[in-house]
Amino acid sequence: MSKTVITYGTFDMFHIGHLKLLRRLSEMGDKVIVAVSTDEFNELKGKKTLIPYDQRAAIVGAIDCVDMVIPEGSWEQKLSDVKEHGVDIFAIGEDWKGKFDFLEDLCEVVYLPRTRNISTTDLKRSLKRFLSISQEDLRKAFEVLELLKRDLE
Ligand code: CTP
Repeated sequence: MSKTVITYGTFDMFHIGHLKLLRRLSEMGDKVIVAVSTDEFNELKGKKTLIPYDQRAAIVGAIDCVDMVIPEGSWEQKLSDVKEHGVDIFAIGEDWKGKFDFLEDLCEVVYLPRTRNISTTDLKRSLKRFLSISQEDLRKAFEVLELLKRDLE
């Protein structure tokens, strides 16, 4: 019998940890449904994404092992999603361990190990560091600009 797997997440700045999770899900069943958090739901969670919902959903939907993308707009929808889509397995990263055990009456609940050393939060931090220019470099840049200006005068 065919098995349906569902997962939930934001999937901002799509990275290798996301890809590995989705690949693992496709090995667990025949149909993979991904509920991608909407921008409004993220706001409710106090999370601000770099990439808007439409693009995050399009990227996740373009991954070969994903069969269907639905919006995640609330905490409560999991119960109705599982029933509506005839879900056999609810799977999510172990950062959520124990949080969704209440679904066990309806389907199997699995917490998967995360890929080490990568997260959207880490990527955002690296980007911030990459973009931040030190005071010393800024001073040097102004000196060069002053010299150029003098050359032009
Ligand atoms: N995930 C994973 N390995 C990672 C990062 C995420 O397996 N290194 C999984 C999460 O456990 C979750 C799914 O990918 O099931 C979507 O996670 P999401 O929160 O969108 O990604 P993070 O990179 O964890 O984002 P953040 O740092 O904003 O929490």
